[in-house]
Amino acid sequence: MSGFSSDPGFAERRARARIELDAIDPAKGAAPDASDPLRRGWFEAVYALAENDAARVPWANLSPHPLTRSFVDLQIRGLEGLCALDVGCGLGDNAECFSAAGADVTAFDLVEEAVQWAKRRFPDSKVAYSAEDLFKVPPEWREKFDLVHECYTLQALAPELLPKALAALASLLAPDGKLLVIARARDEDAPASGPPWPLPPSIFAEAERHGLRRIVIEDIAATAEVPIRHWRALLRRSDAA
Ligand SMILES: C[S@@+](CC[C@H](N)C(=O)[O-])C[C@H]1O[C@@H](n2cnc3c(N)ncnc32)[C@H](O)[C@@H]1O
Repeated sequence: MSGFSSDPGFAERRARARIELDAIDPAKGAAPDASDPLRRGWFEAVYALAENDAARVPWANLSPHPLTRSFVDLQIRGLEGLCALDVGCGLGDNAECFSAAGADVTAFDLVEEAVQWAKRRFPDSKVAYSAEDLFKVPPEWREKFDLVHECYTLQALAPELLPKALAALASLLAPDGKLLVIARARDEDAPASGPPWPLPPSIFAEAERHGLRRIVIEDIAATAEVPIRHWRALLRRSDAA
């Protein structure tokens, strides 16, 4: 799944970064930091410590996620003119993928440095990048988007935040809007020793409680390209006809 085949030191730098970042992640320790429930301090540290080396950002592959890209490729009617939002955009590859397919894309991340880095990578981008918190989005974004995409952000949140996160995602959808979720999957009763916390199937019942009805939920087994079981779920506002 890596876009770094031409960088021989990539795997080693990433492995080293993972060890360093796990060591400073309060959620990996015995006592999570109650003063920072969003783990903002850790996400900021990830991007700051990377010093512009994407190998040191554990989720960055410098290419769209394969399940995002294939979703975009499968849209027979294309995405031309669609008002789209990428949540927790990281270094911007997924947002750029939607933009290249013709969508009018807004993308945000909790971390200012992630946003600045995405802008440096894509200086001619049409994507409107900004630093925002999913739990405090600008009021003008409410009910605005035809398509909201999240890849690996829900699974990066402490599980107790998920109901609030789903409510926040639902509030961003236009009346006919859809939410695309790409996340690691686990069985309901499987232990989830995150972060990241793979999502159990009950996440979709929870989503429905927040006004997000399933259109299609794919339970995708590990492949060579994506070597871990994933969900790719397309949900829509349940008040839509
Ligand atoms: C696991 S990374 C995934 C990044 C990107 N979606 C990707 O697939 O490469 C999760 C991202 O969500 C961001 N994030 C975490 N909490 C957030 C929040 N409350 N609001 C917005 N972004 C958040 C993090 O800073 C991080 O960049």
